[in-house]
Amino acid sequence: MYRDGVFGRVPAVPADFATLEARAKEVSTPRAWAYVAGGAGEGRTMRNNRAAFDRWAIVPRMAHGNTTRDLSLDLLGSRLPAPVLLAPVGAGALMGEDSDLKIARGAAANGIPYVFSNQGCNAMEDTAAEMGETPRWVQLYWSTDEGLVDSMLARAEAIGAGALVVTLDTTLLGWRPMDLNIGSLPFSQGLGIAQYTSDPRFAEIVRERIAAAAGAAKESTEVTLGAIKTLLAMTRNHPGAFLENLRSPVPRAAVETFLDIYSNPGLSWDHLATLRERTQLPVVLKGILHPHDAKRAFDSGVDAIVVSNHGGRQVDNAIASLDALVTIREAVGDDPTVLLDSGIRTGADVFTALALGANAVLLGRPHMYGLAIAGAQGVAEVVANVIAELDLTMALSGTADLASITRECVVPNPSA
Ligand code: FNR
Repeated sequence: MYRDGVFGRVPAVPADFATLEARAKEVSTPRAWAYVAGGAGEGRTMRNNRAAFDRWAIVPRMAHGNTTRDLSLDLLGSRLPAPVLLAPVGAGALMGEDSDLKIARGAAANGIPYVFSNQGCNAMEDTAAEMGETPRWVQLYWSTDEGLVDSMLARAEAIGAGALVVTLDTTLLGWRPMDLNIGSLPFSQGLGIAQYTSDPRFAEIVRERIAAAAGAAKESTEVTLGAIKTLLAMTRNHPGAFLENLRSPVPRAAVETFLDIYSNPGLSWDHLATLRERTQLPVVLKGILHPHDAKRAFDSGVDAIVVSNHGGRQVDNAIASLDALVTIREAVGDDPTVLLDSGIRTGADVFTALALGANAVLLGRPHMYGLAIAGAQGVAEVVANVIAELDLTMALSGTADLASITRECVVPNPSA
């Protein structure tokens, strides 16, 4: 990247986050921008996430003599080239058709895992096919239908997922004024439901619901799924069409079914305790912010947690994920695997998160913005830029490998 700059190659995406964000906004529809960039309430959690990074400063060490760096690590049984993953992002098609396929290609170009969203726009089988040998993880929202949970687990195993990520913080969708003001969520356009419309158990549920709604099982599964697929195709060309079609009983039943089952507001530790018997996959719990929840997660035998406030999209004025990381690492000790997301924008941010105890981080909006600007190439460049800046920060700070990035590398920022 750096050498490309010296030789004058024009990059596909801006190298700094502010310009990346501004360019992504320019090329997005207002509806897409509201959903992707928006946060909960007054946006205070998003601001807290960034402010937390500003409260720490890196203290570089000199004359260390290192000429090479090793950014690689073992994570849940996979060897990764860098401590960066791509977070699950639902409804990505708002920022480009076949969004998950493109994001998967951008991740694979860097050899880093993509966590497939349960609210994805491509079926996990198709997305996995884009990744070659690169690790892929699968994210689950716990459904109110336990049969659907099992079906998703079986599919994740079948596509060779390296881990199952259960997201805990979205049992209900947060209060998101930017979407509310426009009066639309992606689901009403048929976006973000591809993992469901490709699922055999979901087909059964829809058929049962439609039979109940119609008073008789007139519609076959094929007809029902056909109707949903047609709607998805229509939506791409005619954004208003899906809403029009919601007036007819079959698609309306399918979408209402989805809204009823996609997440379980009654999710408890008892549900999670059943996971060990239901899957062989390493289990990761995403959305942990309280040290007691972190301890409980590890006591219940999960393999890792993601300290995350969902990019500030769920609770307004929630604790910054970086602040939560500090107390959680203190509470659980050095050994457990703790990942972090929410507010990571640069390689220097990754360095700070690692110094404060994260084993690796996930990017959310940055790769979505790369997608909006330049598709798979944009995703690949955003990721490469973050990793390149991390590498440079390590080089210029005197850390030759990830184990050398310790708490001693940062101080509370005297200038903040
Ligand atoms: C998300 N996030 C998310 N998380 C999840 O577990 N499942 C999902 O389907 C989604 N969908 C989603 C859509 C969009 C548009 C965004 C921006 C985010 C949250 C995501 O995984 C991650 O936690 C945050 O995006 C990280 O914060 P930053 O990097 O966006 O600040």
